[in-house]
Amino acid sequence: MSDLFGFSNINELALAGAAATLVITLIAIAIYFKSIASDKSSGELSDGAWDGIKEYKNPLPLGWAVSFLGLGIWAIWYMFAGYPLNAYSQIGEYNEEVAGHNAKFEAKWQNADEATLRNMGESVFSVQCAPCHGLTGDGIDGKMAADLTKWGTDTSVVDSVLHGSKGLGYDLIEMLPKLDGLVESERDIELARDYMVKYLAQTKPLTAGDENTKGIEEEAWNVCASCHGEDGKGYGAPDLTNYGKPEFVVDVLNRGKNGYIGSMPAFDDGRLTDVQKRAVGTYVLSLRR
Ligand code: HEC
Ligand code: HEC
Repeated sequence: MSDLFGFSNINELALAGAAATLVITLIAIAIYFKSIASDKSSGELSDGAWDGIKEYKNPLPLGWAVSFLGLGIWAIWYMFAGYPLNAYSQIGEYNEEVAGHNAKFEAKWQNADEATLRNMGESVFSVQCAPCHGLTGDGIDGKMAADLTKWGTDTSVVDSVLHGSKGLGYDLIEMLPKLDGLVESERDIELARDYMVKYLAQTKPLTAGDENTKGIEEEAWNVCASCHGEDGKGYGAPDLTNYGKPEFVVDVLNRGKNGYIGSMPAFDDGRLTDVQKRAVGTYVLSLRR
């Protein structure tokens, strides 16, 4: 087909067509402009006059009206039942195949054990996360991206409150450094953190509940409770009962984060399946030192 007119490439044929269309259009416009200058109108005038200007009686040609309406109806049919939305497309077939494979993948690994998830997570991490977080996960010492060897620990809870946190897109928007003066000392934050990890969150290392100090810790937690809730589940702020669990990482992946260190895109575009997100979450948390 492409050799039919001596063209070696079908694109050149299309280009030649476009050039011809352009030339014909320019000629038509030129003829039209010429006729504007010289044409004299004739025909029957209608009765009405607007400021002395009268109109010719030009009834809509029936053929034109019918084809205009017909074209409209055909266009609607064509769009929704005809080619564009119902056509075969390679992209569509690809998407269907991928969706099919993903469904099989999800079913197969739905109940994968932790070691399997961690291995799966490691390969996801090396492709999707390592470009920013580095192969070791330390984010070039936390300068390029969050240092995942420290994140999700008892220490990072305190760090987050000391230095603030923002960019996950929660309704409360931002946790200001030291809660904008609501907490005065690092000690107060540690007490609140102790309540959180003993009774609500169970981050690593699992700290046994010491009833003797529960009172003061709970009091310290009250400051946090105004946003994260007494039960830590978060109302317009992150659910801290998931802190240190893959679920928290999955939440971060679904939201993306535009924070103080930099910005991380959301992974909510189907790049990762739910199992893969849980897997990479499991792997990320295994990086904690
Ligand atoms: C004014 C409301 C508010 C208060 C009070 C508050 N937080 Fe937060 N906290 C937030 C918001 C909002 C976020 C999500 C910030 C983001 O988008 O990264 C957050 C995030 C966090 C995170 C997760 C940080 C991360 O890496 O994603 C931790 C941990 C945390 N808060 C602990 C605490 C503790 C402990 C206290 C009490 C000392 C506290 N918060 C008090 C609003 C609050
Ligand atoms: C384009 C670079 C980039 C990619 C890719 C990326 N991240 Fe991040 N990530 C960041 C940056 C930057 C931060 C720190 C955001 C801040 O606090 O300013 C971050 C923060 C995080 C945090 C801490 C969130 C919090 O609430 O403090 C986790 C967990 C995380 N990333 C996991 C991942 C995982 C898992 C992947 C791969 C699936 C990934 N990231 C891919 C740049 C990236």
